[in-house]
Amino acid sequence: MGKVPNLGIKPVHSALLLQPLLLYFYLIKVYTVQKIETELTSMLGIDYPIIMAPMFLVSNAQMVIEACHAGITGAIPALNYRNDADFRKALTEIKSATNKAFGINLIANKSNLRLDEQLKTCVEFRVPFIITSLGSPQKIIDACKPLGIKVFCDVIGELHAKKVEEMGADALIAVNNEAGGHAGKIAPRLLITTLKKHCKIPVISAGGVGDGTQMKKMLDYGACGISVGSPFIASNESPVSNDYKMACVHYGAKDIVMTTKLSGTPCTVINTDYVKKVGTEQNWVERFLNHNKKIKKWSKMVTYYKGMKTLERAAFGATYQTMWCAGPSIEYVHAIRPVKEIVAELLEGYIEGKSKPIAHAHNS
Ligand SMILES: Cc1cc2nc3c(=O)[nH]c(=O)nc-3n(C[C@H](O)[C@H](O)[C@H](O)COP(=O)(O)O)c2cc1C
Repeated sequence: MGKVPNLGIKPVHSALLLQPLLLYFYLIKVYTVQKIETELTSMLGIDYPIIMAPMFLVSNAQMVIEACHAGITGAIPALNYRNDADFRKALTEIKSATNKAFGINLIANKSNLRLDEQLKTCVEFRVPFIITSLGSPQKIIDACKPLGIKVFCDVIGELHAKKVEEMGADALIAVNNEAGGHAGKIAPRLLITTLKKHCKIPVISAGGVGDGTQMKKMLDYGACGISVGSPFIASNESPVSNDYKMACVHYGAKDIVMTTKLSGTPCTVINTDYVKKVGTEQNWVERFLNHNKKIKKWSKMVTYYKGMKTLERAAFGATYQTMWCAGPSIEYVHAIRPVKEIVAELLEGYIEGKSKPIAHAHNS
């Protein structure tokens, strides 16, 4: 398996590997099952209330097209495209392959120097929905709402949620403490019920869902849908290296740690030997520079740039610097599979209320 040790922590799902016929039959069963109707499905005109979450370096047009074909929706960070021409090419590819709703993720804070250009392109292409993260989404909401483009905003708590609701957001994406990437701090149940209590707009839950049982829990808590990222890293369509995908297969929830090394803000990564070697905290020089009033803006930018380059090298190439971003829900990943099979298994679990043994205790 190359550099990644097989820790022997996850049983391989033998039905998926050894009995493709069984898989075929349950795919048929899932797709003959009726739609699951929620506020999210009616807002986007999709069959099942699942968003394949935007993931830096990972999400691409092919994954989104497959998600749409599977009856869910998917989103891509605009930052995954180096320039506007590549971004436009991807939007054209998606639009010519499906007329279903898909989304683009825009980073709304100052670190995204290309926000205006990305927003203009999204508006021109009438991207069906936008997911905003970091910073104020006001400018994005103002540009999109009059055109009927939905805007969903990542939030990690009540305060920010109320603000974006006042600004006119169409839905909240409740990023909980089990999410991959820049996780929140609050457990799924508390976060969903708090946001439902204090806000009127729909709540979509992001984080920790890898099987149908977890999906059902989030909807039972009051979410109108789920946003799922990490389980799709190991999809056939994902552009990242085989080593990264196999790391998602072989490592599990207990191997996920938070590092501030990448961007200064805690981010979930797989605790590979490389991560163990370099540690998960910034050294004193980096901390000093990032807190010094006069230079922190610039030093944070340097940290961020270096961190993103490290992630990029690890995501696509053969490197010893195995810094792979993923969340605890890789616990549920047992093989590299097509997007449509990952979706089908989620739905099958949801429908049958089937539970799989999991090592990760949900603190919900
Ligand atoms: C590899 C990776 C990259 C991510 N990149 C982004 C991103 O660029 N923008 C964003 O808003 N969220 C990003 N996220 C967070 C996801 O959109 C989503 O909230 C999260 O994956 C949900 O948790 P889950 O991984 O347990 O499903 C990323 C998550 C992962 C795992």
